[in-house]
Amino acid sequence: NWTTRNVVEESIAAIREQVGTKRAICGLSGGVDSAVAAALVQKAVGSQLTCVYVDHGLMRKGESEQVEKDFVAATGVQLKVVDAQERFLDALAGVSEPEQKRKIIGREFIRVFEQAASEIVAEAGAHGEQVEFLVQGTLYPDVVESGGGTGTANIKSHHNVGGLPEDLQFQLVEPLRRLFKDEVRMVGQELGLPDEIVQRQPFPGPGLGIRIVGEVTKERLDLLREADAIAREELTAAGLDRDIWQCPVVLLADVRSVGVQGDGRTYGHPIVLRPVSSEDAMTADWSRLPYEVLAKISTRITNEVDEVNRVVLDVTSKPPGTIEWE
Ligand code: XMP
Repeated sequence: NWTTRNVVEESIAAIREQVGTKRAICGLSGGVDSAVAAALVQKAVGSQLTCVYVDHGLMRKGESEQVEKDFVAATGVQLKVVDAQERFLDALAGVSEPEQKRKIIGREFIRVFEQAASEIVAEAGAHGEQVEFLVQGTLYPDVVESGGGTGTANIKSHHNVGGLPEDLQFQLVEPLRRLFKDEVRMVGQELGLPDEIVQRQPFPGPGLGIRIVGEVTKERLDLLREADAIAREELTAAGLDRDIWQCPVVLLADVRSVGVQGDGRTYGHPIVLRPVSSEDAMTADWSRLPYEVLAKISTRITNEVDEVNRVVLDVTSKPPGTIEWE
């Protein structure tokens, strides 16, 4: 008898049984899976949970606030926010190659998260408490893909703050292991999470870092954030969110083209719109968006975003194109 309420109640009972009186930590990514997993554990064991949000500066406009304010307000979780924007920008300086960017972002993310986890473990230890669990938003398809195993996570601490253990060992808590994505969204809704998080379309872990073709800089990120926010706003206003799997907005930072605006010639960057429809992201087709919506997005982006003088539409299916540009 599958009802969302049953699923929530059963999983809360299971989490209480697993975690007992120990402490748990959970990394929030801004996405729906980690948010719903954290919200369930919070319901089950309350203040025994501490969440960590690494702000790498590669999120879209408003997304960090959604986690830091709206998610916290909706759930009451204890949240440790790490502002790592400078660190990520420094690490990415001078790097244009996509796989290199991914590696750097992944590596920095793990280091910053481990550092935060070590601090939480140390603080708990000072109060005689033990952090034994790491919460993860693993879904059923991930479980199947990885052969069904469950277990522990071993976190090596790279930055040895005095007195911390060399290795942090955690047992995994995976409350979404039996759920599909749409069920996770229903659970999130049942738990009262904000729509912006529950209905969020897929967004890659490396964030806007792989949507800037060229080097990632603060200026370019700010510019892309503005263009992306306009595209999202207009797609939502046109009621198209449910028709589109996701719509990457890409800045071709290493390309310039000539334009004319106001009383003069411009030499600016193109923005690419990549709206796709898909079932599972393995294959995709480009979305046939209404011309009026495309026109509105184009006019607004070229008017409102400095340095952008051209908007182009990606009409490539996957394969041969990937959904992301990098
Ligand atoms: P591609 O570009 O390979 O993307 O067609 C397929 C889906 O995966 C997402 N994507 C990523 N997600 N880390 C992620 O967490 C990544 O490095 C990454 N690269 C692509 C992409 O947004 C699409 O939904």
